[in-house]
Amino acid sequence: MASRTDTSITIDIPLTRESPDLLNAQITGGLLGCPKTLPSKLFYDEHGSTLFEQICELPEYYQTRTEHQLLTRWADEIVSLTGAEELVELGSGAATKTRVLLDAMTKAEQLRYYVPFDVDETIVRRVSEELIQEYPGLQIHGVVGDFLVHLEHIPEGGKRLVVILGGTIGNLSMQAAKEFLTAVNSEMASGDFFLLGLQLIADRERMEAAYNDTQGITAKFNKNIIRVLGNTFGSEIDPELFDHVARYNEKDHRIEMWLRSRQDQTFTIPEWGLSVALKQGEEIRTEISTKYDQPLTDQLLADSGFEMVKWYADADNLIGLALAQKP
Ligand code: SAH
Ligand code: TRP
Repeated sequence: MASRTDTSITIDIPLTRESPDLLNAQITGGLLGCPKTLPSKLFYDEHGSTLFEQICELPEYYQTRTEHQLLTRWADEIVSLTGAEELVELGSGAATKTRVLLDAMTKAEQLRYYVPFDVDETIVRRVSEELIQEYPGLQIHGVVGDFLVHLEHIPEGGKRLVVILGGTIGNLSMQAAKEFLTAVNSEMASGDFFLLGLQLIADRERMEAAYNDTQGITAKFNKNIIRVLGNTFGSEIDPELFDHVARYNEKDHRIEMWLRSRQDQTFTIPEWGLSVALKQGEEIRTEISTKYDQPLTDQLLADSGFEMVKWYADADNLIGLALAQKP
């Protein structure tokens, strides 16, 4: 674990020290696999984070506002049950819903420390500067990193609540989610609390509409992964040579996002000597969004070393919030 400092905002950036070999292996391995995949953290450069904020406001994207309402309803209880003075948020993004928890902690006179952890440096800096203004006396230690690789950069702390919101856990397969949460658990102290936001299995039409908005923002977001590959690694490939595809996979109870090649083309990253042929109609999977129910969540948390404290869901059972504790 990293040590704490006294200044109000500290930003640690393990991501820029990430070995290019690891990213190379992740990208190359994905493109040579079957099906072809790309690591979804690549969506989130500054442009991608902005597009994601727009997704959260879409009429079809019911998840964000439902989770926001659920948090608003239960934040005081969560803060009082946990007694947390510190909030650690993995995949913090724009931290819009986080404010509901920070407000409740302020009201309970418990708020001391916030750790936003995200792969996008711009958004970690922006959020840190905003929150330091909004919450006088708050200390912030931002981490710009990959939460699948850099968890040990979370500084040591006191009585804390670790949160993952926005359905981010669903972006991992169930097996990967279990491994990830086991790693999160091992970074926590005994008695610390964990709050996990889940997108629940709903009717197919509603779920598919949420990833096929009429304004085409989700399509732009999906194609941004190609833009990022071009900007970061000099791949010479045009995002507009792909169509956005999102559909529900019933068996794995998850939405899958794909980019479908509009023509025969070759995907190259010259720097790495990588060259992958794509046929017209061939698809690359860019994201999954696994939907859960309460029993699946109970199992996931138990398998990762947590004890369930309380389950919250909205009246339509669209979003769940699982409050758990490390024994
Ligand atoms: N918590 C916010 C954002 C959810 S979107 C909300 O509820 O609206 C998922 C967030 O996780 C994005 O901000 C993205 O940049 C971040 N993210 C995705 N993969 C990541 C990874 N491997 N490591 C760290 N952050 C990641
Ligand atoms: N965590 C969000 C979700 O699973 C991520 C997301 C929303 C997303 N819309 C997307 C990812 C579109 C890729 C494409 O709902």
